Amino acid sequence: MAQELEQKIKNKTARVGVLGLGYVGLPLAVEFARAGFEVTGIDVQQVKVDQFNTGHSYIKDVPDSIFRPLVESGKLRATTDYSVIRELDTIDICVPTPLRKTKDPDMSFVVSATDAIAEFIHPGLLVMLESTTYPGTTDELLLPKLAASGLEVGKDFFLCFSPERVDPGNPKFQTANIPKVVGGITPACTQAGALFYQQALETVVPVSSTRVAEMVKLLENTFRMINIGLVNELAMMSSRMNIDVWEVIDAAATKPFGFMPFYPGPGLGGHCIPIDPFYLSWKSREAGIEARFIELAGYINGRMPEFVVEKIQNALNESSKAVRGSHVHVLGVAYKRDIDDVRESPALDIILLLKKLGAKVTYSDSYVRNISLNGEILDNQELLPTVAASDCVVIVTDHKGVDYAAVIDASKVIVDTRNALKGFRSSKIVRL
Ligand SMILES: NC(=O)c1ccc[n+]([C@@H]2O[C@H](COP(=O)([O-])OP(=O)(O)OC[C@H]3O[C@@H](n4cnc5c(N)ncnc54)[C@H](O)[C@@H]3O)[C@@H](O)[C@H]2O)c1
Repeated sequence: MAQELEQKIKNKTARVGVLGLGYVGLPLAVEFARAGFEVTGIDVQQVKVDQFNTGHSYIKDVPDSIFRPLVESGKLRATTDYSVIRELDTIDICVPTPLRKTKDPDMSFVVSATDAIAEFIHPGLLVMLESTTYPGTTDELLLPKLAASGLEVGKDFFLCFSPERVDPGNPKFQTANIPKVVGGITPACTQAGALFYQQALETVVPVSSTRVAEMVKLLENTFRMINIGLVNELAMMSSRMNIDVWEVIDAAATKPFGFMPFYPGPGLGGHCIPIDPFYLSWKSREAGIEARFIELAGYINGRMPEFVVEKIQNALNESSKAVRGSHVHVLGVAYKRDIDDVRESPALDIILLLKKLGAKVTYSDSYVRNISLNGEILDNQELLPTVAASDCVVIVTDHKGVDYAAVIDASKVIVDTRNALKGFRSSKIVRL
């Protein structure tokens, strides 16, 4: 079976499936279609599937100029019908892995995707989980469900974990040139998985097990989360001591070894850094070890929106205004620069906190047409007139295309949480 699959992968006749067509799944499907495979995407959202099949990409990093020809040539198609799995040789699971309110992993999407695959599993199928998750997911959760078919892993079917490391909005590193780590349940699984990814991606890094591959992703994101926690704490200290934390970090970054700069900000956002480490702390609790670094960094990072609001309050006080009744304009609501994703964005927390204190809040973000907050819809406002009408501007996302000089001119006071105004000198600017 392994040889047959290997042959199909090598001569690109393997029929590739991608389950979950979001930020991770769509670009992955595109790379395999570009490599010459016939790719079928499966998603539960009919609207998404319909849009996919029109040849219009809804993921910013994938331009229509690349996407459309692949759809038109029949290399790429999408469906909501799981029964196509019967026809597939490989399937990558790219479904969400959020946290529950209690900060426990919500595995419901992975479970339903696996149940669907289990229903249509057949000899020769290569299954790869790409969703970020706790170590042990692939062998404890997926394997029993798939093996219940009576097929033997490593012999009749193949199962791997391969963490997705895509960084939306990063023009230099995208799906194709980010090294791909892959670990299988058995050596034959790893071999099949590695061979598969080698067809479309530049570098493949095989590891000895699914658990190692799962832990790799959590190490990477926990490393970022904890280091951001450290500089956020440093920012709070520096503020009290009248030290410019940005200048400190830039100077420290001149050390050519043993230091890597991380920058403070308004709080963590997105679907990875604020969430993934809690998958690890949840699992380590089960193993009897408390993940204290993670919990502490989570606490400090979670404090940042309040710290930003305190900065806004102080800035308004300086001009003898109170937050209650003042107009605060939020510049940027996406969780990071030059993307349209507002999931877990600290801007949402900051807006809610300001509203609770009685401020009038507006926002501008050319990437985000509107946001929904506790059922209330806020629409994107034209930047400069709204800045001019506001009492205070807070830069939460440092999108590149903004005319910051004009924003400074039009504003009364600006709280800059991202050092977007680096190099500008004005008494209106309050840095984090
Ligand atoms: N977005 C990122 O930058 C990023 C980076 C690295 C890793 N990841 C991880 O990758 C995984 C996917 O993230 P994403 O950002 O692509 O999510 P997303 O929400 O953009 O896309 C997930 C897609 O899966 C679909 N889906 C959900 N349940 C399904 C099911 N049972 N069957 C078929 N489709 C289903 C949804 O409709 C959605 O289209 C997550 O585990 C995430 O942590 C994301």
